[in-house]
Amino acid sequence: MNDIISYYTNYAEEDRLFSSRCQYSEFLVTMHLLRKYISLENSNILDCCAGTGAYAFSLAKEGASVTAGDLVPVNTEKMKQHPNASLLKEIYTGSALDLSRFADDSFDVVLCMGALYHLLDAKDRDICIRECLRVLRPDGILVCAWESHLSLALGRHLIAIRQTDSALRRKVLQDLDDCCKTQIRDIFYGMTPEEVESIAEHYPVERVTNASTYAALYLVSTFVDDYTDDEYNEYIRCLIETCEDDLAVKYAMHGLYICRKTV
Ligand SMILES: C[S@@+](CC[C@H](N)C(=O)[O-])C[C@H]1O[C@@H](n2cnc3c(N)ncnc32)[C@H](O)[C@@H]1O
Repeated sequence: MNDIISYYTNYAEEDRLFSSRCQYSEFLVTMHLLRKYISLENSNILDCCAGTGAYAFSLAKEGASVTAGDLVPVNTEKMKQHPNASLLKEIYTGSALDLSRFADDSFDVVLCMGALYHLLDAKDRDICIRECLRVLRPDGILVCAWESHLSLALGRHLIAIRQTDSALRRKVLQDLDDCCKTQIRDIFYGMTPEEVESIAEHYPVERVTNASTYAALYLVSTFVDDYTDDEYNEYIRCLIETCEDDLAVKYAMHGLYICRKTV
């Protein structure tokens, strides 16, 4: 956990989704999916890996009652200092693996959009999903963000091809090979599409949807950032129209698995 805290303490999470149009596409597609599958008005939502609150504040503005937590004190402090902090019901620092501050069945919706792709051990991912489901009421909606194994490998490959020093390039390619075998790169765990889909087999949930929130954009980011407003809007329209397509999910860098608690 210390590695994750150190990573995000030195990272401007508040800029991540808003620093380029390409990154912003993730925010727009995610908001589309949350609006589509969650009735926001008066909904009691736990955002347990809220980062600096990009989604927590947006959902609160749209009428939801949002409790926002994050593992990293710097991130929760940024939410507390945010001009809209009073829109949130509660802001706390804590891990999604231990939600003992909340009673069973407390929330209509739990957003787990950050922990799973930082938990390198399968046992911890299991604890995390069980904890999220414990605090979710029956029939409530769980939203899990995943990063794909493809994304880790592609990211590593893009670093390799930019290396001009051949020894360094070989080292990065060795890391790429390791990361393809382990599905781990640094503090990130990349799931296969099969692992994501198996959530409904292992937990008392029924699948609602699985969607791509960040297509193969590492490859096209410079072009997307240069789009005119009309071109960008058309591009977003296409992403939204195709994000739940099985093929889009297979090739996605990041995605959302949305399911309903059955008991
Ligand atoms: C890339 S950010 C995503 C933030 C936000 N949910 C979003 O989708 O934009 C990942 C966040 O997950 C948080 N995180 C990682 N592991 C966590 C854990 N075990 N419990 C709670 N938060 C965690 C990190 O601190 C970070 O703020």
